[in-house]
Amino acid sequence: MIGLPRVHHRLTDSTNQRAKELADAGAPHGTVVTAAEQTAGRGRQGREWVAAPGDALLCSLVVRNLEPRHALLPLMAALAVCETAEALAGVECAIKWPNDVWIDGRKLSGILVEGRPAAGWAVVGIGLNVATRAFPPELEPIATSLVLAAGEAPDPDPTVLGELVARLDPWIAASEADVIEAWRPRDALLGDHIRWSDGEGVAAGIDERGALLVDTGDGRIALDAGEVHLQRR
Ligand code: BTN
Repeated sequence: MIGLPRVHHRLTDSTNQRAKELADAGAPHGTVVTAAEQTAGRGRQGREWVAAPGDALLCSLVVRNLEPRHALLPLMAALAVCETAEALAGVECAIKWPNDVWIDGRKLSGILVEGRPAAGWAVVGIGLNVATRAFPPELEPIATSLVLAAGEAPDPDPTVLGELVARLDPWIAASEADVIEAWRPRDALLGDHIRWSDGEGVAAGIDERGALLVDTGDGRIALDAGEVHLQRR
């Protein structure tokens, strides 16, 4: 069952780090690590993830034996986050490939999947801005929270966590086809001109593996999430 056992830290470096250590030591599928505050929250592509104490849901989930659906884990988690925000705050969410959850073009939530698929486990870390009213100046124009988007904030824990765990459960069990079908209508980049370190083109949806399709001057290519960092529009 997703959500148990549950480990909560008032303060830790990174819930992903804690969850990876637990997974390595044999923690079961469904184990969840949460924290009120992180001192070294990790984001994708080596970035950091910063949140004021108690303002965000910070959680990491141990997932076991997901092969051959492992590559879709980031997309599954993003779908669960979208549904959680929509159910609790009445907002409408889109997903910037592969797994940034946006409201009106601003980032509500980030997801970082780490782990050892070869060893049969992964950790999916989710940061979801709930009660944040002010972001650092560089994030102010591009970030949002449930309270900013909807006017009121549910408790990160237990309300948001409980909803998220309930939404993660069916998506993690879902077929690849169902995940892709649910993800496609939420595609925030579809038709946009996008750039990455060594290319550019027009986003043309995702393939059945969850890779981003891009129409370039030389034809259509597929980008894997682990390999590229999209530059923001
Ligand atoms: C990103 O958008 O770059 C991903 C951010 C992921 C942040 C979450 S917060 C909980 C978990 N613990 C971490 O250290 N990172 C993830």
